[in-house]
Amino acid sequence: MKNIVLIGFMGTGKSRVGHMVARRLGLRFVDTDDRIVEKLQMPITEVFAKLGEPKFREIERNVVAEVALKEGQVIATGGGVPLFDENVQNLKRNGIIICLTASPEIIYRRTMGSDARPLLSVSDKLEQIRTLLDRRQAYYAVADHQVDTSSCPASVVARKIVELYKADGSSQG
Ligand code: S3P
Repeated sequence: MKNIVLIGFMGTGKSRVGHMVARRLGLRFVDTDDRIVEKLQMPITEVFAKLGEPKFREIERNVVAEVALKEGQVIATGGGVPLFDENVQNLKRNGIIICLTASPEIIYRRTMGSDARPLLSVSDKLEQIRTLLDRRQAYYAVADHQVDTSSCPASVVARKIVELYKADGSSQG
């Protein structure tokens, strides 16, 4: 049974929706950011501040490689995971890749109350979201499917993903 891999920008609902999809299909849920936090025993903001982004990316690549070895999981990835081809290759081997998308304004609204994302800890957050989205568009395009979450409740997004997974034949084993 293939993995369902959720990629996409911060604030597109990968973790929330991933949980729902896993529950509906009876699959294990894994979140790469949570794995990093567990491994290092520190929040992502602290990893960036103490070890720097390049080290965070290295740890992230190791976590992705480890997680991708197993099957039958729903994997929510950090927004920067597709920036590294090694991650994409590992996740594609036994996974259907689904990119969650949302408009910059919606992402801004969903992320503004939290300071848990170091890349969005800047004075003009909306501008930063637009810039990063632009820069990352080509990386997110590696997905097998895109699902826009801008105007959909998480439960509807989860249902769409379950349908895509079943239609893909991935649940057949
Ligand atoms: C990042 C996204 C974050 C987290 C880190 C870097 C990114 O995860 O991995 O702050 O580069 O887009 P979420 O997408 O779950 O917020």
